[in-house]
Amino acid sequence: MLVLGDSKVINSLKLIFVLCLIEDGKMTDNNADFLKKVSDLKQKDNSVIKALHLTQDVFGYIPENVAKEIAKIYSLPLSKLYSVATFYNEFKLKKRGKHVFKVCLGTACKVNHNEKNLDFLKKEIGISIGETSKDNLFTLESVNCFGACSLAPVVEIDGKIYAKMSPEKLKEHIDAIKGNDKI
Ligand code: FES
Repeated sequence: MLVLGDSKVINSLKLIFVLCLIEDGKMTDNNADFLKKVSDLKQKDNSVIKALHLTQDVFGYIPENVAKEIAKIYSLPLSKLYSVATFYNEFKLKKRGKHVFKVCLGTACKVNHNEKNLDFLKKEIGISIGETSKDNLFTLESVNCFGACSLAPVVEIDGKIYAKMSPEKLKEHIDAIKGNDKI
């Protein structure tokens, strides 16, 4: 039996996503396939959170056009769906880049000058907090605390925490990413 967390289901849905070349604001036949999966999911479980997880797994975020369709399927006002999605930090409403930098702006990190790192990233990548670079390579975000204050200043890169971060170390990461991604 296929279940939501089944990697085969996720992979086939990712394939659908790649094939359909989704454009924001437009629904395609393959998007309709995805929404059929959401409808099937609703039949099994009325919790919209599972549909949001599925959407996030497939698209990497919750596209507005998909959110509207999911709200219809679950007979929810769109505002209600967004209030659920924004309650959980894991759901992203904007498309994110391939590499996500999160800078901690909590007290310990501020005292240890993490704003210098933030300023460096803003300049080096050319985006502000909450933005994604035009080439979709980088997203810059901030957090209030990673719970790793003794390691301050802390920056998370692609889910990995880096302690005692500095602009020099960040430059090395960015250069390595650019080198690997051949831009
Ligand atoms: S304040 Fe930065 S990890 Fe806690």
